[in-house]
Amino acid sequence: MRSLFVMDPLPGIDQAGDSTWMLMLESRRRGWPVHWCEPRDLYSQGGDVFARAHGFEGLDQPPHYRSEGPTELALADCRLVWMRKDPPIDMDYFLCTYLLDLAARRTTVLNAPRAIQLANEKIFALHFPELCPETMVSADPARVRAEVERMGQAVIKPWDGCGGRGVVITRAGDPNLGVLAELLTDQGRRAAIVQRYLPAIAAGDKRIILVDGEPRGWLNRVPGPRDHRGNMHVGASAQPCELDDRDRSICDVIGPSLKEHGMIFVGIDVIGGLLTEINVTSPTGIQEANRFMGVTLERDIIDAAVRRAHLQHGDEA
Ligand SMILES: Nc1ncnc2c1ncn2[C@@H]1O[C@H](COP(=O)(O)OP(=O)(O)O)[C@@H](O)[C@H]1O
Ligand SMILES: [Mg+2]
Repeated sequence: MRSLFVMDPLPGIDQAGDSTWMLMLESRRRGWPVHWCEPRDLYSQGGDVFARAHGFEGLDQPPHYRSEGPTELALADCRLVWMRKDPPIDMDYFLCTYLLDLAARRTTVLNAPRAIQLANEKIFALHFPELCPETMVSADPARVRAEVERMGQAVIKPWDGCGGRGVVITRAGDPNLGVLAELLTDQGRRAAIVQRYLPAIAAGDKRIILVDGEPRGWLNRVPGPRDHRGNMHVGASAQPCELDDRDRSICDVIGPSLKEHGMIFVGIDVIGGLLTEINVTSPTGIQEANRFMGVTLERDIIDAAVRRAHLQHGDEA
């Protein structure tokens, strides 16, 4: 199961928190050749896709890996190709998914490139509106303002944000509301999301990891005292949690759709039993869930990838 990881540069990876790192180590543990490259190292000739990729070996001593090469690698010679580049989801990112979609004729790409193209994390959730907080998407500052006034208390956030960037809490009568609507829509040029404010955020923003459509790991992110956001790098703390009936029913509803689209490793965000995000691009949380729950999610994810590879391309190679 020769495996290629398309990712941010390996030397910059936070080994103590990164999920891609865990998938790489697990692939090596299984004895498979492992390679990594950046999106810009991919190229296509005559419709076939190649990479200038480095070999990867895990080591016990710092820096805990050996990275050889780069050498030329045909993606058709890999059984598994992992798209694990972090945001921004810009046009370079999309080009990478287009090349990987070419490669997917001969190899198994995870998550499926067409699924990544389909599923903006905040907007894809709206395919299941009954599971989400009330949400509006618009680039019109007047509409944004009116919606906040109608909701009473709301957040405004960029449609393409991550890590809590640009998420503001506001309310009807906020003297800054007009300014916020202008800023978040870039004076009417870009869409923003208005969403009903969920006071349950005080109890945390749950991250649930679904492997091939099934919830297999979860953790809670509780905002710190100085910031309203449940994102870890702005001070939220990761804590163990349980899934309640509402969380499970969200997974039951969306699971089959994730499976069908080849989204084998997905992280959803749930606040007070309401779905706010479906992350399919490069979700994370493996290390925290492993620690809190005594699970080994990287094994489950790779098992699911292998099943998909057999389904898609049979037992050859
Ligand atoms: N509807 C909401 N009600 C209350 N807080 C919210 C809401 N939406 C987002 N937030 C806050 O902003 C944080 C980040 O929001 P999220 O939609 O997950 O965007 P991002 O992709 O930036 O993580 C959440 O953890 C939460 O603290
Ligand atoms: Mg989030």
